[in-house]
Amino acid sequence: MPESYLQDLFAERIGGAQYGKSAALYKFEKIKRAKRAALAAHPGAEILDLGVGEPDEMAFTQAIEALHSEAGKPENRGYADNGDAALKEAAARHLERVCGVKGINPETEIIHSIGSKAALSILPAALVNPGDYVLMTTPGYPVFGTHAKYYGGRVHNLPLTEANQFLPDLERVPAEVLRRAKALVINYPNNPTGASATPEFFARVVEFAQRHRLAVVHDAAYAALVFEGQPLSFLATPGAKAVGVELHSASKSFNMTGWRCGFVAGNELLVRAYGDVKDNTDSGQFLAIQHAVAHCLDHPEITRQIAAKYCRRMGALVEVLRGAGFQAAKPKGSFFLYVKAPQAAVRPNGARLRFGSAEEVSQWLITDRLISTVPWDDAGPYLRWSVTFVAKDQADEERVLAELARRLGEVRLEF
Ligand SMILES: Cc1ncc(COP(=O)(O)O)c(C=O)c1O
Repeated sequence: MPESYLQDLFAERIGGAQYGKSAALYKFEKIKRAKRAALAAHPGAEILDLGVGEPDEMAFTQAIEALHSEAGKPENRGYADNGDAALKEAAARHLERVCGVKGINPETEIIHSIGSKAALSILPAALVNPGDYVLMTTPGYPVFGTHAKYYGGRVHNLPLTEANQFLPDLERVPAEVLRRAKALVINYPNNPTGASATPEFFARVVEFAQRHRLAVVHDAAYAALVFEGQPLSFLATPGAKAVGVELHSASKSFNMTGWRCGFVAGNELLVRAYGDVKDNTDSGQFLAIQHAVAHCLDHPEITRQIAAKYCRRMGALVEVLRGAGFQAAKPKGSFFLYVKAPQAAVRPNGARLRFGSAEEVSQWLITDRLISTVPWDDAGPYLRWSVTFVAKDQADEERVLAELARRLGEVRLEF
């Protein structure tokens, strides 16, 4: 690219005049490049992609049909702004029927989002002044923290570890951080650990938020994807509505990642502030999409069917990974399996390859074994395996997992 005065105009928050000059590669870019290199080295070979973070299937036919009929209605054609009643009311019904959350007022306590990512990027504008802290779990989905930093805020990381069942230890936050903290962001079922919260943990969160005057943002992008029992909503916790909001998304619950639609529900004041900033950020998701999502929210059997598939795949994946020496335990929901990374791989001829990080393991798995995973080194070396790998039917699913077992079985992993 030719030199340009534009280079000097960039804001410090994206690197200032140095923007784009760093040679450092982001994790997901490294994975992409390693996959390309592996395919170039093994033309025609199959990469077993267990790194994907989104559903492998289309939205259900009924959602596509609902979109089709809603898209043809002239009243849906214009700016949706903060939305009409259809999605709000369906979301309130969904919260009550699926998550047991009673008494949410759809008019004042719910507003749609153009996906949870958009909501996580909007909410910091409503809460964060320069110098304020936000408390975020790590490893995790960083969007809220990234935007908090754009506003001059600071992120305090709460490590998720096996010893804490991947629930943050709230009492370890230093007092000086708490004094300037505005928000606590949590996410259960969790990406990447696959961990689920408990009613007791959520009750502790409510008490902690009240004690330290924090807004709670519960990112429930995987909420309905549970393998047993009822989804656990933060809003079902006594007192939750006084301290926070919960973000729901159609992306994973209904195989609608590309459709970009979700909702923010809970505390009226926070929902209103979200709506005010949102109104100055976007003009709302196409009403036809909102109405198709509303249809899905009234059909929780869609999510139950998706979750049943992930549950089946997860059980089988756990067995394969255990067979290869990983300490894998089946999570209670989400589509992620998070396991400690090996320290070394030993070939049948005795050659030993030592790994210094999960990222090194992941790169080796792609280039040597043609298996793609996502590494996390934020709180110990772990690999995230996703059961959203592509397989055209159940027989193909079994073939993929058998092939995975075969490729892992050709080496001995040391932990
Ligand atoms: C924890 C978490 N939150 C939010 C999102 C974004 O979801 P959406 O598609 O609703 O923007 C993701 C997507 O991967 C996620 O993993």
